[in-house]
Amino acid sequence: MKVPLLDLHEQLKPLRDEIVAAVTGVIDSTTYIMGPKVEELERAVAAYSGAAHGIGVASGTDALLAVLMTIGVGRGDLVLTTPYSFFATMGCILRLGARPLFVDIDPVSYNIDPTLIEEALAVDPARTARIKAIIPVHLYGQCADMARIMAIADRYHIPVVEDAAQAIGAACPMPVAGTTVWRRAGSMGLAGCFSFFPSKNLGGVGDGGMIVCQDAGFAERTRVIRVHGGAPKYHHGVVGGNFRLDPIQAVVLSIKLPHLDSWHRQRRENAARYRRLFRESGLEDGRVKLPVAVYEAAASEAGGHPDYHIYNQFVIRAERRDELRSYLQAREIGVEVYYPIPLHRQECLAGMDYEGLSYPVSEGAAAETLALPIFPELTAAMQEQVVAAIVAFYAQGT
Ligand SMILES: Cc1ncc(COP(=O)(O)O)c(C=O)c1O
Repeated sequence: MKVPLLDLHEQLKPLRDEIVAAVTGVIDSTTYIMGPKVEELERAVAAYSGAAHGIGVASGTDALLAVLMTIGVGRGDLVLTTPYSFFATMGCILRLGARPLFVDIDPVSYNIDPTLIEEALAVDPARTARIKAIIPVHLYGQCADMARIMAIADRYHIPVVEDAAQAIGAACPMPVAGTTVWRRAGSMGLAGCFSFFPSKNLGGVGDGGMIVCQDAGFAERTRVIRVHGGAPKYHHGVVGGNFRLDPIQAVVLSIKLPHLDSWHRQRRENAARYRRLFRESGLEDGRVKLPVAVYEAAASEAGGHPDYHIYNQFVIRAERRDELRSYLQAREIGVEVYYPIPLHRQECLAGMDYEGLSYPVSEGAAAETLALPIFPELTAAMQEQVVAAIVAFYAQGT
């Protein structure tokens, strides 16, 4: 049996009629740009995330770009971020003429390491003054250590932009007035950026994205940036872009949003099944390392059901990763490497003084990680097949 990395057919089936009717409704309405359907989704996603405002945009990339434009990031500025992410995290910084200042990741969570952020900010006050934003990425569906990141950023008065493209709904514990509250991705920094790319836990039928934030003024300025900086129309006090979300995507996402928590739950159940299967396989002797859900223990202590990890990806670390990947792909098991080249090694940075830099934890992760299928409708039989194939690979020896 083929085991795809992601199969959207099963998710679509029960929703298809509703989606087709809603898309037809948009077409018949002739309101094709923005309008009430986009506003409805903005309110729903903001409420879901625990944010006051939602601003629908055309992609997760545009969400990051528009937020950095609203902050005023430009030539000569630095944005502190992780070297272990999808290209868009860095691409938006470079497109504005600014430069990424990389800080390595934590080897357990793969998220940016707050201790290293603190060290980087202490190096040179003149350099720190050029840092206009910090972008933690909530990689694979698990929040970065936002409690520590926010405390550090607040001390330096640097805004935090959460790249929550992979993490809508994921929650982490935050200290608030002597107690701990669980906050969802996007609701903690100045702004949070979501992607509705079809492979995300909440995916559209094409590209889409959303910015969420708490501050009404920031939301308003970002809404202006979304429409070429025009406010009122045809009066451009600032330069923006066309970053609008399409109402066809908005109606599809509004239909899917109420199902998101149950999809997250199914992904966590699949993760638990992988953990059991790998435990039984005997492969956790160093050949395979499973992802660590760093907030899981705190979530069970907290009671209730905080979404401590939404498993957009289930990423293992594997000995002889590249050989294992080829072996699984040859047996029609969908796996992928997120990401094979850390951002500081990307060719587009040539000539910008990144050549000599090394971020060993990111480089190690890029060489050893492998994402396994984890989508909600994945069956137990498929997971057994994935683990059995990995067992068979290592059984062959070198
Ligand atoms: C971490 C991260 N940032 C940004 C993006 C960009 O989102 P989009 O593909 O919607 O532009 C993605 C999506 O792939 C992502 O995974």
